[in-house]
Amino acid sequence: MSATPTDLRGREADAMARARELGASVLGTTSANPAVGAVILASDGTPVGEGATAPPGGPHAEVAALAQAGERARGGTAVVTLEPCAHTGRTGPCADALIAGGVSRVVVAVPEPTELAGGGAERLRAAGIEVEVGVERGAAEEGALAAWLTGVREQRPFVIWKAAATLDGRVAAADGTSRWITGEEARAAVHRLRATCDAVVVGSGTALTDDPQLTVRDAEGRLAGRQPLRVVVDRRGRLPGTARLLDQAAPTHVSRAGTPADLLAELFDRDVRRILLEGGPTLAAAFLRAGLVDEVLVHLAPTLLGAGSSLVGDLGISTMADALSLRIVDLIPMGGDVQIRLVPTRHTGGDQHADGGS
Ligand SMILES: NC(=O)c1ccc[n+]([C@@H]2O[C@H](COP(=O)([O-])OP(=O)(O)OC[C@H]3O[C@@H](n4cnc5c(N)ncnc54)[C@H](OP(=O)(O)O)[C@@H]3O)[C@@H](O)[C@H]2O)c1
Repeated sequence: MSATPTDLRGREADAMARARELGASVLGTTSANPAVGAVILASDGTPVGEGATAPPGGPHAEVAALAQAGERARGGTAVVTLEPCAHTGRTGPCADALIAGGVSRVVVAVPEPTELAGGGAERLRAAGIEVEVGVERGAAEEGALAAWLTGVREQRPFVIWKAAATLDGRVAAADGTSRWITGEEARAAVHRLRATCDAVVVGSGTALTDDPQLTVRDAEGRLAGRQPLRVVVDRRGRLPGTARLLDQAAPTHVSRAGTPADLLAELFDRDVRRILLEGGPTLAAAFLRAGLVDEVLVHLAPTLLGAGSSLVGDLGISTMADALSLRIVDLIPMGGDVQIRLVPTRHTGGDQHADGGS
């Protein structure tokens, strides 16, 4: 029995959710290219191929999905999180690959925002293929494509600020120790999060006090095959040669950038699109004041210290009316701790988010 149009639409919605997952699964490995996911449905709506962007120089998501689907793509539908490109970079145009693969319909979440790669939908339509653009666009834009889109729109990397705090908002005890505020589960989540980023950033204060390694490791402490760039912002050259950040476990960039914006520009030029800002309170405050934090992740532990560094340094705010407000996106229990994900809704600095909302 052949699938009804309603069945097919349902299959396409499932395929789009899967395409978003596929894109998210390669975050941290594709920059400066976007982390795209694609699913090919046969003409009866059966999923017959899926793919995600390979590291730069490798196949794009559509090409990988088409390779898996082979002849079963003919007369079928391609479901993609980003409009297929129409230009030849290190790989050929994805629009041409879809035409050659014989699909009769292409469903796209986000239209290609760059002129360079644009025109894919037009090229597909010219070849007689039905194209629908903008399907579940918001979910794709907020997901794996968010960092890349920030890069396109603002020419800077996307910044996730992460901190572990006690219930009274302390990130270190009075003697400077901060190991460990949170339990194993939250710490394992940090390693998974690092793996989705192109760079992990700390200030010289954290580097000197904690001597962190800032690598991605599994539960047994084994190093992951791919490591994000480790970055320490050390304007006075205080980092000692013996620092663990300078070991061979991962590449490291010691920056003398004077401001967060300068640092982001420096990293953007190195193809970094997604940053995990891991500390400490002084550097985090500088980013917040500059309006350069896109997402905040706080791991809150049910402990009290009563003294010690607080979550964030001086924001230049002296009255309640000027408080920097954030919107809670989600709240997830993690072992004995809680993860709170937030987005700033009002910045003291930069003006791009100044009027609330996100
Ligand atoms: N619980 C957590 O999640 C967590 C995370 C990180 C750190 N910590 C704790 O935080 C404490 C360290 O705090 P911290 O505030 O000294 O660490 P930090 O923010 O990592 O480092 C501060 C230093 O960063 C440098 N820096 C570079 N660019 C800057 C900029 N644009 N604006 C301001 N400073 C800039 C400054 O030194 P230069 O002028 O020399 O460059 C400054 O002294 C430690 O006790 C550590 O354990 C806790």
